[in-house]
Amino acid sequence: MYLQRRNRIIRQSPAIRSLVAETILTPGDFIVPLFIIEGKNDESEISSMPGYYRRSLDLTVKEVKELWATGLKSVLLFIKCKDELKDNKGTEALNPNGLMQRSIRAIKEAVPGMVVMTDVALDPFSSYGHDGIVENNEIVNDATVEVLAAMSVSHAQAGADFVAPSDMMDGRIGAIRKALEENNFNKTGIMSYSAKYASCFYGPFRDALDSAPGFGDKKTYQMDYSNRIEAVKETLMDIEEGADIVMIKPALAYLDIIREIKNVVNVPVSAYNISGEYAMVKAAAKMGWLDEDKAILETLTAIKRAGADLIATYFAKDAIRLIR
Ligand code: PBG
Repeated sequence: MYLQRRNRIIRQSPAIRSLVAETILTPGDFIVPLFIIEGKNDESEISSMPGYYRRSLDLTVKEVKELWATGLKSVLLFIKCKDELKDNKGTEALNPNGLMQRSIRAIKEAVPGMVVMTDVALDPFSSYGHDGIVENNEIVNDATVEVLAAMSVSHAQAGADFVAPSDMMDGRIGAIRKALEENNFNKTGIMSYSAKYASCFYGPFRDALDSAPGFGDKKTYQMDYSNRIEAVKETLMDIEEGADIVMIKPALAYLDIIREIKNVVNVPVSAYNISGEYAMVKAAAKMGWLDEDKAILETLTAIKRAGADLIATYFAKDAIRLIR
């Protein structure tokens, strides 16, 4: 048979395949989410996220040192707020000695080079488990934005490199940027969860922080998964308002959105390989239905190929082990 073109030529050996590979994972691609609890020398496995832990701050600091030693460069902090400190306005979120603020300081002190990003949203602090203040069974926008801006300043004060608002209120990026500028935090970045969809795949995360909404769902602020153009609108507005990095979340069922956004923006794009995506791989691997390591590499490579410059993932340590 005569063929002018034989596509298999570039696939015939591992060496050739690696020469022509378009997408290569590196340690600089990853952001490691960390769940922090009060206490000392305490860690507990998250039941719906096998192999992933909530840790007290002392153990978290130890973990961050290890992450840094493996070449990972960024962590994204979430804290589990005690029930008795939760209220409708998320007051504890602004406590200069709150767990988040103490965590930022301790991590920056122990590993100054580590890029510390912080979750900015009310849900872990809210007695209703919502990302905003509740009035008459509604999540109110503007009053929530004020708290988010104050929270961002408080994180910046504690030494956060990036604040990462994950709430989807309108106008919060502009308000946060203004508040940071007014308080002279002109080196603090904003990684905006700009296209965050209302997703069932957040379930395990809400277990981790005990932050499931107490009533209703998050569909009046997080996006409807039917929509694509709306993700572009949200993201372009966040960039205009001052976002340094934008994020699409979840990642796996939204690879089309990642690509769509990558094609139209001029800032780094990140994607969040979320808790439910982690849990699915873990569960299938446990049943012996999937090869976990291969699934991790394929998934993360696909997210990067779709257009993510950065990936927040619970698999970051595995990825480092696998790409070495
Ligand atoms: C809350 C927040 C959520 C996640 C990150 N920040 C959950 C939610 O919106 O209910 C989900 C992360 C994950 O599932 O891994 N502001």
